[in-house]
Amino acid sequence: MRTLVTGCAGFIGANYVYYLLSTYPDEEIIGFDSLTYAGNLETLGNATQNPRFRFIKGDITDGDAVDALFAAERFDIVINFAAESHVDRSISDAGVFLRTNILGTQTLMDAARRYKVTRYHQVSTDEVYGDLPLNRPDLLFTEETPIHTSSPYSASKASADLLVQAYHRTYGMPATISRCSNNYGPYQFPEKLIPLMIANALADKPLPVYGEGLNVRDWLYVEDHCVAVDLIIRKGGIGEVYNIGGHNEMKNIDIVKMILKHLGKPESLITYVTDRKGHDLRYAIDPSKISSQLGWLPRTKFSDGIVKTIDWYLDNRQWWERIISGEYVEYYKKMYG
Ligand code: NAD
Ligand code: DAU
Repeated sequence: MRTLVTGCAGFIGANYVYYLLSTYPDEEIIGFDSLTYAGNLETLGNATQNPRFRFIKGDITDGDAVDALFAAERFDIVINFAAESHVDRSISDAGVFLRTNILGTQTLMDAARRYKVTRYHQVSTDEVYGDLPLNRPDLLFTEETPIHTSSPYSASKASADLLVQAYHRTYGMPATISRCSNNYGPYQFPEKLIPLMIANALADKPLPVYGEGLNVRDWLYVEDHCVAVDLIIRKGGIGEVYNIGGHNEMKNIDIVKMILKHLGKPESLITYVTDRKGHDLRYAIDPSKISSQLGWLPRTKFSDGIVKTIDWYLDNRQWWERIISGEYVEYYKKMYG
């Protein structure tokens, strides 16, 4: 079995590569990533020591490079994690989100069709459903919830989903889609809520909480996401969409306070800043389809996962300190002043 993992040098793609390498001793994995600001080869350090993994640098929007890759490698499975993934960056500059997330998906799927890949999996997001009200805990996103996007990021991911469904219907493309809630865990780029708050708390810097910190996200430990994607690829129905989430809704402010408490830092570091434009209020996934049809259940409780994550950032300071001292300095100044 030969699997292509795009976006393998990012947060979830890299965790997925490690999951595959440790779970399937006979399978070969080729990682493809253009190494944007969010891609980091250091993250794949241990994987590159493994003879069953190879990294190839390239852009999923580059039709010639993608064609050459598929011609040379003859993949059985393609999993597309590659994306521009940060909502705030999409609000400042949507162009690259449309190119990578929509045109990149089209380019990959065209190659997957040409080279007769037996399974194409699109890693999507719960953000394609828009948001839910804060005062209706009974409402959850199901696979039937209408697409209703808020940010250029979520609009680009929803467009890609529609294309995947069109390729399935029009060309019989053997595709599946997963829509997961917020992930956390090792190797997450420190622009995202949890690693950003850990890094700032450790440096005794202000923790920038948008609005009043009352927005709700449904958090899932990254390894649980990897298990779910793998299950969908191996056992899921072709043409199907699966939501992934672990019923773990938390207000942003509660997470920030939890991090401060674990690190023994004062709540006076919390600084309320201007809200994100179009900020989605609440995400909450109904995972009953993947649970009942494929038997998936999350394994990591948030109370354990968050401690493991904070400890990982404490133990791997070099990894993120190098990141936040590079291009990220300019982004941080522009974003937070
Ligand atoms: P990330 O930003 O950490 O990593 C994205 C990776 O894609 C990087 O390594 C980057 O270099 C690579 N990439 C970007 N543009 C590329 C291009 N044109 N060609 C090749 N590689 C390119 O993102 P992540 O958080 O790991 O998210 C991975 C996927 O999961 C994305 O599709 C995202 O939409 C989805 N997702 C993320 C979450 C989350 O909470 N992080 C939740 C649900 C779904
Ligand atoms: O739901 C899945 C999505 O989760 C993925 O599709 C995205 O790729 C991923 O980035 C994530 O999107 P969010 O916008 O929910 O994640 P982020 O970490 O940027 O923000 C989480 C919440 O924290 C959100 O309500 C905004 C808030 N926030 C974020 C930052 C960066 C702050 O209050 N302050 C901050 O500085």
